[in-house]
Amino acid sequence: MATRPSGRVAVYPGTFDPLTNGHVDIIQRGAALFDRIVVAILINPTKSPLFTIEERLEMARAVFKSRPGVEVDTFDGLLVDYARRRQASVIVRGLRAISDFEYEMQMALMNRHLSSTIETILMMPAESYTYLSSRLVKEVFALGGSVRGLVPDLVEARLKEKTGVGSGLRV
Ligand code: PNS
Repeated sequence: MATRPSGRVAVYPGTFDPLTNGHVDIIQRGAALFDRIVVAILINPTKSPLFTIEERLEMARAVFKSRPGVEVDTFDGLLVDYARRRQASVIVRGLRAISDFEYEMQMALMNRHLSSTIETILMMPAESYTYLSSRLVKEVFALGGSVRGLVPDLVEARLKEKTGVGSGLRV
């Protein structure tokens, strides 16, 4: 039997294209509850993200580089298999509004069906982030709107680098 790492490990999975301050808020709340929180970026060849998996990994690692207890990784395949490999007992997901609930509950119950020993915990971000999503950040930025304060500064800079300031970005 595999030995359990010291302390309680949680996995926070997602697409993170890109990481927003809403994600950062949930990660910080998770880091306060668990000994380690693993931010797990899904490698999904069927989606065409704005940022490559390497870029998303590198940005998230840079944001949390001096935050002990936060690790950033990628995964593919079933989330519960990844959680088991990481010896995580908890999956953390953010819940912004009731509209998120149905999808989150479906995923949580499917994951419980697949692995009864891994619990999903839904966490609410700060109220000021309840309207925030990666999709809207990309849309607002593409149309020339400001995303200052909605994403980490480093992510804002990478959006500008990638596209030229607010112009021509396809979302
Ligand atoms: O940020 P997202 O796109 O809402 O994250 C969705 C994610 C990555 C959590 C979800 O798609 C996932 O867990 N994918 C891995 C495949 C899997 O385990 N599917 C069955 C469980 S619902």
